[in-house]
Amino acid sequence: MLLISRTESKLVAAAEEVAKKYNVQTKYSVVDFANADEATWQRTTTALASLDVGLLINNVGLSYDHCEYFEHLSDQDVRNMVEVNITSVNQVSSQTQKLHSTASKPCKRCCETASQLVLRSRIVALAKSPPSE
Ligand SMILES: NC(=O)c1ccc[n+]([C@@H]2O[C@H](COP(=O)([O-])OP(=O)(O)OC[C@H]3O[C@@H](n4cnc5c(N)ncnc54)[C@H](OP(=O)(O)O)[C@@H]3O)[C@@H](O)[C@H]2O)c1
Repeated sequence: MLLISRTESKLVAAAEEVAKKYNVQTKYSVVDFANADEATWQRTTTALASLDVGLLINNVGLSYDHCEYFEHLSDQDVRNMVEVNITSVNQVSSQTQKLHSTASKPCKRCCETASQLVLRSRIVALAKSPPSE
């Protein structure tokens, strides 16, 4: 299992807990998805390349500190939400699938990532919503 987030101390504790409880090998990578650059994505590719990924869980998410009209948000808040909520899930999904598609043996399990399923269900939910007045 590979865990990715910003705080190394929390990652170490979570990785140790999972390894002990479920007897699986764990790794972690320290990444801030709000400030990810090319070097960051290269590191996640390297970390993902060492694994046979069967399931990708996208849990990271960013919202407003409190209820607020969209036009009152700062440009930085909006940028952070795009980077954390959209760019990161696309980057990690894309990297994972590219690594799978170039693997020497074909993946016979379900290749669809959890995050894609979440994205797809959101799109379906939007398509079924009646247009707002
Ligand atoms: N809590 C709720 O009431 C609620 C309700 C509806 C939906 N959700 C959604 O459920 C998910 C989890 O919620 P949560 O309250 O558990 O969220 P959270 O505690 O803020 O963050 C979840 C995880 O993401 C990591 N993370 C946060 N920002 C990051 C960043 N910029 N880069 C990399 N990792 C980052 C955190 O670790 P680090 O801080 O160490 O990076 C933590 O491990 C989110 O997508 C949230 O939008 C939550």
